Amino acid sequence: MINDLRFRIWEFRFCIVSCFLILVFMLSCNQPKTSDSNKFTNYFRQGELLYTKHCSNCHQADGSGLGRLYPPLKQSDYMNENFEQVLCLMRNGIQGELTVNGVQYNQAMPGVPTLTDLEIAEITTYIYNVWDNERGLVDVKEAERILNTCGRE
Ligand code: HEC
Repeated sequence: MINDLRFRIWEFRFCIVSCFLILVFMLSCNQPKTSDSNKFTNYFRQGELLYTKHCSNCHQADGSGLGRLYPPLKQSDYMNENFEQVLCLMRNGIQGELTVNGVQYNQAMPGVPTLTDLEIAEITTYIYNVWDNERGLVDVKEAERILNTCGRE
């Protein structure tokens, strides 16, 4: 009888401990997701600030560009097709003929050579996720890898 009771208590404890472990396991599985989305939000917010400071004069806050002078970033086929080039042109600028959504542009865009790899990753995360774009986070490591290849096509 006593033995039986002890066994029950033991069984009960075992159950509590295993429930607790399962809970911890589930929480820890969720962890990376939350920190990933925090990281995305940080990049996106910083990117928006940097975009306002360095880019929106020409491309406008809503990304629509300015007539035949400055091409749009909003729904730009150029941006979809030339992802790596876009990171490079932020730092190094670009000139010569360039076509966006069937319209030709030919003005020099000055680069911002002081932008760090992280800042470029943040601006990229911003412009590739606002205005109906949904590329997701562009991490600083990915930006660094791409920026190291600029001018080496
Ligand atoms: C002084 C005005 C100016 C500023 C500031 C500027 N751009 Fe540009 N941008 C241009 C022009 C002009 C072109 C087209 C270049 C050409 O004709 O070769 C261009 C082209 C582009 C393109 C490729 C074409 C497209 O529309 O998809 C992207 C992407 C771009 N700029 C992003 C940026 C980002 C991001 C910044 C801020 C870091 C920035 N630009 C700052 C003027 C500017």
